[in-house]
Amino acid sequence: NTERQLNNIKVTITAGPTREAIDPVRYISNHSSGKMGFALAAQAAAMGAEVTLISGPVQLATPAGVTRIDVTSAQQMYDAAMAQAVQSDIFIGCAAVADYRVAQIADEKMKKQGDSALELKLVQNPDIIASVAALSQNRPFTVGFAAETQNILQYAQDKLNRKKLDLICANDVSAQHLGFNSDDNAVTLLWQHGQHSLPVQSKTALASAILLQIKQLFSAK
Ligand code: PMT
Repeated sequence: NTERQLNNIKVTITAGPTREAIDPVRYISNHSSGKMGFALAAQAAAMGAEVTLISGPVQLATPAGVTRIDVTSAQQMYDAAMAQAVQSDIFIGCAAVADYRVAQIADEKMKKQGDSALELKLVQNPDIIASVAALSQNRPFTVGFAAETQNILQYAQDKLNRKKLDLICANDVSAQHLGFNSDDNAVTLLWQHGQHSLPVQSKTALASAILLQIKQLFSAK
């Protein structure tokens, strides 16, 4: 029974992709639909939490009882996330944030240059979840996701340690019908002293199971 498990707990969740502009009509992005993050927001609200959902551009309705902040770029998501994080008990980074953005966004639509190749210079975006986890004051219980196509658990464990997270949800995004833009997903939860595999199920059911594990670790802290 998940009802009221998160009563009086403030949860902030990021979801969806970010979009990094190249010029006024083009951008770099990824295949995140927002479904996993929105499922987490809906289930957390159903469990009694006060939920803020920071969303990149997606085609999804806001879940009942959830406060939504819409953003486009990684920098905008970072700004919104840092403002919300210090007011939250739990922060879950489910968004597929672009690691890089274009160094110089062109003011006008870029023109094709004859037959020559085009090179775009990319610079790194801030790491949102690592910045939240590094807060020295009002640091929330910090949960990340790891989207991997190989060496899933090893890379996820690296991210858990490097970003100093309390928990990471590792998903194999090379698996057909799982991960990006699917209705189902499977994750392995990793934390400092444990591991728990959640088999393929709807993102809604998976969200409940993830939140129950978060609640258990959060309460034990
Ligand atoms: O949206 P869906 O279509 O439902 O798909 C769900 C999902 C596959 C996107 C989701 O389950 C998932 O795995 N989200 C994380 C995707 C991702 O960007 O993973 P990553 O391994 O590149 O990043 C690791 C962690 O760092 C993530 O928590 C990410 O939010 C965070 N990050 C990454 C880069 C950055 N600049 N800032 C961050 O906070």
